[in-house]
Amino acid sequence: MNDSAQGLSAQGVSAQGVSAQGLSSQGLSTADHFYQVLFSRRDVRGQFLPDTIDPQILARVLSAAHHAPSVGLSQPWNFIVVRDAAVKARVQAAFEQAHAAEAQQFEGERRTAYCRLKLAGIVDAPLNLLITCDRARGGPVVLGKTRQPDTDIYSTVCAVQNLWLAARAEELGLGWVSIIEPEALRDIFQLPDSVVPVAYVCLGQVRYFYDEPELQAKGWAQRLALDSLVFNESWGKRDESDPLRAALGGLDAEPEVAKASDPAQ
Ligand SMILES: Cc1cc2nc3c(=O)[nH]c(=O)nc-3n(C[C@H](O)[C@H](O)[C@H](O)COP(=O)(O)O)c2cc1C
Repeated sequence: MNDSAQGLSAQGVSAQGVSAQGLSSQGLSTADHFYQVLFSRRDVRGQFLPDTIDPQILARVLSAAHHAPSVGLSQPWNFIVVRDAAVKARVQAAFEQAHAAEAQQFEGERRTAYCRLKLAGIVDAPLNLLITCDRARGGPVVLGKTRQPDTDIYSTVCAVQNLWLAARAEELGLGWVSIIEPEALRDIFQLPDSVVPVAYVCLGQVRYFYDEPELQAKGWAQRLALDSLVFNESWGKRDESDPLRAALGGLDAEPEVAKASDPAQ
């Protein structure tokens, strides 16, 4: 087994977060390694380095995606690897069009703040990937999908999350770009009718990882308190006597980098 969590070796933080080699592997259990990767995963837009991704590493992260759970083991995903600058330019143009339209949805200062955010690294990242879902894969009757037909999409999203975590374990940044009309992606990548685009992502080595969501660091949104999202037995019901409540209340909102990266600790 490839113990890629061992790749989380260790040096340093920048002012804005953990450097690409910023996680310590010293004395950590398997669970610790897993949570290090999970909590330090970030959506990356602006810190990509132009360096080519080692094909062995790319193969490993794609394999991680391919080992995601899928409804009826239908594996509805495909991965389109994009390196061609001309293709990226078309996607970037589609992004800019959608971005301008989305900006109009916000008013006043919120629009100004939106326009200041960097929301895609399509051109900067050395590699982009389109992850698709073939809605016809497995035929008309797929175990587990007949009552919940969107489970093929959910399966594909599981693959994207595996990819995202594996990328982080390999010290690669990944950014998901959804500010693109699906029809534009369908056109650019010549998708067959049964295939839908699920995730367009930018992938590459990075200068550093933020130690909290970039949207939070820039004041756009905040992580909600987990305790407020957990109910007991039915929607909206809270059982304050459940010891889980105290445990949830005691969690750090951003546990990952404070513990993983601070060289003073
Ligand atoms: C389905 C999906 C679509 C997203 N689309 C975009 C996007 O178009 N542009 C962007 O900058 N971030 C996008 N993100 C990243 C989120 O903004 C990010 O995950 C969130 O702010 C939390 O930050 P973190 O991933 O670094 O923890 C997307 C994330 C998901 C899961």
